[in-house]
Amino acid sequence: MKVKKLQNLIGFALMLVLMVSCGGDQNGSTGPLGAGGAAQKAYVAPGELDEFYAFLSGGFSGQLAVYGLPSGRLLKVIPVFSVDAEKAYGFNEETKPMLETSHGFIPWDDSHHPELSQTNGVPDGRWIFINGNNTPRIARIDLTTFETVEIIELPNSGGNHSSPFTTENTEYVVAGTRFGVPVPQQDMAIDEYAGKFKGALSFVKIADDGRMDIAFQILMPGFNYDLAHSGKGLSHGWTFFSSYNTEESNTLLEVEASKNDKDFIAAINWKLAEQYIAEGNFEEMNSSYLRNFYDEHTQMATTEKMNTVKVLKPEDCPGLVYFLPCPKSPHGVDVDPTGEYIIGNGKLSAELTVHSFTKMLAAIEQEDFEDERYGIPVLNFDATMAGIVKSTGLGPLHTEFDDKGNAYTTFFISSEVIKWKVGTWEVLDRVPCYYSVGHLMIPGGDSREPAGKYLLAMNKITKDRYLPTGPEVNQSAQLFDISGEKMELILDFPTVGEPHYAQGIAADVIMNNSKQTYKLEENMHPHAIRSEEETKVVREGNVVRVYMTSIRSHFAPDNIEGIKVGDEVYFHVTNLEQEYDVPHGFAVMGARTSELLIMPGQTETLLWRPQYPGVIPFYCSDFCSALHQEMQGYIRVSAQNTSPEIKWSVGIDE
Ligand code: CUA
Repeated sequence: MKVKKLQNLIGFALMLVLMVSCGGDQNGSTGPLGAGGAAQKAYVAPGELDEFYAFLSGGFSGQLAVYGLPSGRLLKVIPVFSVDAEKAYGFNEETKPMLETSHGFIPWDDSHHPELSQTNGVPDGRWIFINGNNTPRIARIDLTTFETVEIIELPNSGGNHSSPFTTENTEYVVAGTRFGVPVPQQDMAIDEYAGKFKGALSFVKIADDGRMDIAFQILMPGFNYDLAHSGKGLSHGWTFFSSYNTEESNTLLEVEASKNDKDFIAAINWKLAEQYIAEGNFEEMNSSYLRNFYDEHTQMATTEKMNTVKVLKPEDCPGLVYFLPCPKSPHGVDVDPTGEYIIGNGKLSAELTVHSFTKMLAAIEQEDFEDERYGIPVLNFDATMAGIVKSTGLGPLHTEFDDKGNAYTTFFISSEVIKWKVGTWEVLDRVPCYYSVGHLMIPGGDSREPAGKYLLAMNKITKDRYLPTGPEVNQSAQLFDISGEKMELILDFPTVGEPHYAQGIAADVIMNNSKQTYKLEENMHPHAIRSEEETKVVREGNVVRVYMTSIRSHFAPDNIEGIKVGDEVYFHVTNLEQEYDVPHGFAVMGARTSELLIMPGQTETLLWRPQYPGVIPFYCSDFCSALHQEMQGYIRVSAQNTSPEIKWSVGIDE
């Protein structure tokens, strides 16, 4: 993407919008000229493509939204943990198993942190993972199809917030319980929390083909684990989890969990954990949890029940876990591109504490401990400290990095992003955010190779930024140009749901692998057919299977008779198209589910239970051609106590 001159009305209109919305006088840009320059920087001309993909979690939407940067164009919403009628996710028979859990079918979750797979500490564009915060799960999305292909449940956990941060070569993605809970779950008094509730940290192994499997859990004290990041470079082999409520309170946490002056960052030596596992120094615990996998060849999701998990106990595994004290209630824990610095964002303090990995190893070596909690050594605060960023901001949450040795931290309470120098800890620049910024994202900004061109701030409060839409306004994202010394606001756009975290990656790492069609000859769906000649309607007791095809602009068959009230009718619809971007829809009047949206070469299934005798229409719900409106048909439904002959047809016999 090249920066284009503003030469047309669209550009001029955009410039006006930006002048009004950012006032033109923030962040050092002065008046209309500054705003115009900002508009130019975010402007991607019609027909041109963005430079980066940005993946923003949907929070309470349960989904993952994909945007282009710098334009802020919404490219796709990927359904992950919530049913999505637009794409039939969780509604068609193929994807229903994706949302099965040990609690049953759950149509929703709270998705917080997308995390790209990495190779050598650099995002590689193969997959993106995201956590389910409510019913603890991790999902994997295939970035050739932008579809959710696997969801694994996390046992022994209550909430899954500090997840799914990846290790340097995607050996693992991690998870940590947000809530201390009894492990195993049992009926016990809530006020027995302290000492009895536990906090499981999970290490989920990622196979070469992406498949997820819980390698082990570490049964930690019942603190609340908030965020995590894995080491890189020299700290490869370690993962760091921030925690709050080290007070182990079970009530009024806003007061009770803020009593201790310091909470902890738990440093986990996962290479050593692998060794303990190999040596058999673990407990095999009965825990039931589900793993759901969508097979691209059969185009079906299946659910697998798992029954045990390997558990490591820190008190039995010396050297596995150390606590780094951190100013109270840290949110993000972030590791700089070299892997040397571990930044604790103590959200109730003004300062950022930077720990040194090298000093941490030395303190461990010298057993420079100031305390011990449940057999876990607490390292001397001063011994591991590399420096303090005296920002004068309030409420630091999350830090990412650029390619020039700078760090950028969001401050929720003072609503700003502060830029500081790694190593000297001096504050270089600050910009306000509108309003109450949570996380930020720099493409590659939590990896070994940050792009250092744009910074996206995700704000919790929007208020007056957009036209009002009733009591709720969408959350806002603000894009800053960080290529110069001063950060400059260049775009402000509303988001889908509430983004808690994001990832960004250069477009060309992903776009060239993007799938355009599913090959019909590779369609191994058990109910697929490959031509109109194979279409049929088959009765098996009260189950009727309609093997149907779609192609511009008709279904085959489009007249079906012999269906009865009380039947379960499965429409297995194969889209015969083999051309990019030609899906067909399929919708039946009165079906208690969504439409189908079938990609070229795919088969999807809609279940319908006819309620009364009559003639029921169906049609294509996706505008596919000039004769899309004609793409329709009928199903004749007879009374339950009749024996109508099954008949199907398309067109008139000559
Ligand atoms: Cu097929 Cu509209």
